[in-house]
Amino acid sequence: AETRKYQFDVRMASVTRLCGTKSIVTVNGQYPGPTLFAREGDHVEVAVVNRSPYNVSLHWHGVRQLLSGWADGPSYITQCPIQPGGSYVYRYQIVGQRGTLWWHAHISWLRATLYGPIVILPPAGVPYPFPRPDEEVPLMLGEWWRNDTEAVIAQALRTGGGPDVSDAYTINGLPGPLYNCSAPQETFRLRVRPGGTYMLRLINAALNDELFFSVANHTLTVVDVDALYVKPFTVDTLVIAPGQTSNVLLAAKPAYPGARYYMEARPYTNTQGTFDNTTVAGILEYEDPSSSSSSSAAATSNLPIFAPTLPQINDTNFVANYTAKLRSLASAAYPAAVPQSIDRRFFFTVGLGTHPCAVNGTCQGPNGSRFAASINNVSFVLPTTALLQAHFAGRSNGVYATDFPAVPLMPFNYTGPPPNNTNVMNGTKVVVLPFGTTVELVLQDTSILGAESHPLHLHGFNFYVVGQGFGNFDPASDPARFNLVDPVERNTVGVPAGGWVAIRFRADNPGVWFMHCHLEVHMSWGLKMAWLVQDGSLPNQKLPPPPSDLPQC
Ligand code: C2O
Repeated sequence: AETRKYQFDVRMASVTRLCGTKSIVTVNGQYPGPTLFAREGDHVEVAVVNRSPYNVSLHWHGVRQLLSGWADGPSYITQCPIQPGGSYVYRYQIVGQRGTLWWHAHISWLRATLYGPIVILPPAGVPYPFPRPDEEVPLMLGEWWRNDTEAVIAQALRTGGGPDVSDAYTINGLPGPLYNCSAPQETFRLRVRPGGTYMLRLINAALNDELFFSVANHTLTVVDVDALYVKPFTVDTLVIAPGQTSNVLLAAKPAYPGARYYMEARPYTNTQGTFDNTTVAGILEYEDPSSSSSSSAAATSNLPIFAPTLPQINDTNFVANYTAKLRSLASAAYPAAVPQSIDRRFFFTVGLGTHPCAVNGTCQGPNGSRFAASINNVSFVLPTTALLQAHFAGRSNGVYATDFPAVPLMPFNYTGPPPNNTNVMNGTKVVVLPFGTTVELVLQDTSILGAESHPLHLHGFNFYVVGQGFGNFDPASDPARFNLVDPVERNTVGVPAGGWVAIRFRADNPGVWFMHCHLEVHMSWGLKMAWLVQDGSLPNQKLPPPPSDLPQC
């Protein structure tokens, strides 16, 4: 194993898309940001210097951070943000993961432009459990706003209403040819050789939208999700939620010289409100060996470009069928270690809600209220110092409470009409887990203000998705159908719109671990909480002291 060192300068850069130029926050002036490469087992050191005017912290989404919670990155959870002019070195090891993850800013909405891939290769000499691809291509799906995204969320929080939606989706930062005023260089192009196999390392870095993705006339074989191998399966279209990653194999046809195909992404949503329903396209273009020109454009300009057929925008059944196909590889080399006996069971409702309006008539949320979101009716309020620092110092008083409810405070029929009172309570509450606790957690969409899929992300752990269903979770009958043999293991799971999902994990990583909806607007409204995992008794079960350069608030 080696140590991979990176220098990340967070600074502003001017970027032009769709005939508009704006100043965005970047790493090293790149948008999207640079790729981190590591092999499983390597150590990673990222020296971050903040030359931007914003408070910033970076999160290594999906990296387990075993005993390295100080490097996890969510602002006010594991660290105070790096202030302008400040710096911090993130140090961690990649343990038991291989595939694709990603890094992103973890404060306010800065991740809109501050993100990049983490490519994790197997240890040297260890092959993939599938045929080796000829080429590997990170493919980041994102969102682009003409306006400043910090202003967009500030305005929404001020008015209590919903934020403006994005103006375009992007592939590797590029909106593509289906948008007005998109310049030729604003289209992502993938040149392929006839007969070649390409591994797309897909990342959904969009703020607020789950996305369908498809490539015209080609199938995609899913081999990995969230940096863990799955049993391969082949589809025309896949669906990927914000925070999720997936490696997929694309086999180029034997001989289509000069042919071109669109790859497209557009949202999956059943939200009643406004959303960006546009489509990003990139172009898959076959090399033409008979053409002397190095640019395929001239050789192919007369050929039509084929477009894929994507599911209907609200095709929840497609999503349920797709996610039901995901299974751990569960082989001898990569066994599934699903907790079979459970120490603690939790039932969490996730969904939207409301806050009363402070001054009547000034709020733009539902029925004159302010939008809020909660888990078990608690809308999480970020503290002004970091939870992990307070925990380590034994000074929780005034920072957080340990009484996060294990079941909803106000139970109701989650798939019936909403209760009369949709108000949520504010709190900074955590669940305390002794080291090694095995946890089963059922997440239920409340359907308040509409059934909606919520991609829940857990920091510090992978979990097994042992069951999912529509309607209300039934503790009497549903657990009998749980898959405890080869359930998919991941770090972000969609709680089905109008349904539930059950996950299991072992709390074997001491620290404070954020869990939240990866739709950024829901996160801003409070759909988040934290687990506090205590030290174990053995030396290798204790959180080490904080690094000396840990930013202070
Ligand atoms: Cu990808 Cu807490 O985030």
